[in-house]
Amino acid sequence: MAKKELEQTLVLIKPDALKNSLTGYVLSQLSEFHSGLRFAGLKVVHVSNMLADEHYFEHRGKVFFPSLLEYIMGNLHYPNDPEKHRVIAIVYQGPDAVKKIRSIAGPTNPHVARDEKPGCIRALGTVVPIKDAEGKVVGERMDNLIHASATDSEAEREIKLWFKPNDIPPLMHANKTETSDAYYYFKESRLYTTHEPGSVCFLPLGDVAWKSDMEALRLIAKGLPAPCSLETVVAKYLINEK
Ligand code: GTP
Ligand code: MG
Repeated sequence: MAKKELEQTLVLIKPDALKNSLTGYVLSQLSEFHSGLRFAGLKVVHVSNMLADEHYFEHRGKVFFPSLLEYIMGNLHYPNDPEKHRVIAIVYQGPDAVKKIRSIAGPTNPHVARDEKPGCIRALGTVVPIKDAEGKVVGERMDNLIHASATDSEAEREIKLWFKPNDIPPLMHANKTETSDAYYYFKESRLYTTHEPGSVCFLPLGDVAWKSDMEALRLIAKGLPAPCSLETVVAKYLINEK
């Protein structure tokens, strides 16, 4: 199939959209009729701190970073309902997927979205002040309803962060896969290839994994530097695990 047809992007329907029952509206705006794109993967995800931190790694150290993690993890919109802490993660596929979804989503800041692109999804979002312990306003948080990958390389990284190969029908795969050549275990930020008490087996021998994950795991297992962190590889395998 032509490479253009396989182009993919990641969308997250964030906790503010879920809380305001905007899921149907978002799906309708992004539907094949409006976007020309197809679903390649879709799941309801309880977002762990590890997954949130890896997803937003480029914003580490910024003033709004802690509230960004709290926001995507659902802690802000459902402070007393941990069972409601989830997002909907979707892979859309088709020509110009990244550009089309970014256009329908609109500008990052909902106020700018309302000014510059009335009718876009993020025009329905809101901007919330961030206060320090004394109640002084130290910044702002943008509750903008959805996430959408910004570039092709960002889309590839994010899809491989949120989805396992088997979450996506094989004929829709845009990234290379490989069969796991070992049992891989994780405990306290460390990788093991034999069972360690208290560790979790996140990838058994024979399961299908992203090729780039297998390459990273082999390097990390040898104590060598890898192109991505161990957490980036592990996070998707632990999605919705207790
Ligand atoms: P996403 O689709 O969510 O990735 O948004 P984006 O690509 O339009 O923006 P970016 O990746 O730069 O930022 C990710 C998220 O961080 C945004 O959705 C905002 O919630 C938040 N954010 C980004 N820049 C700022 C900023 O300057 N101030 C504040 N308060 N929040 C920001
Ligand atoms: Mg972004």
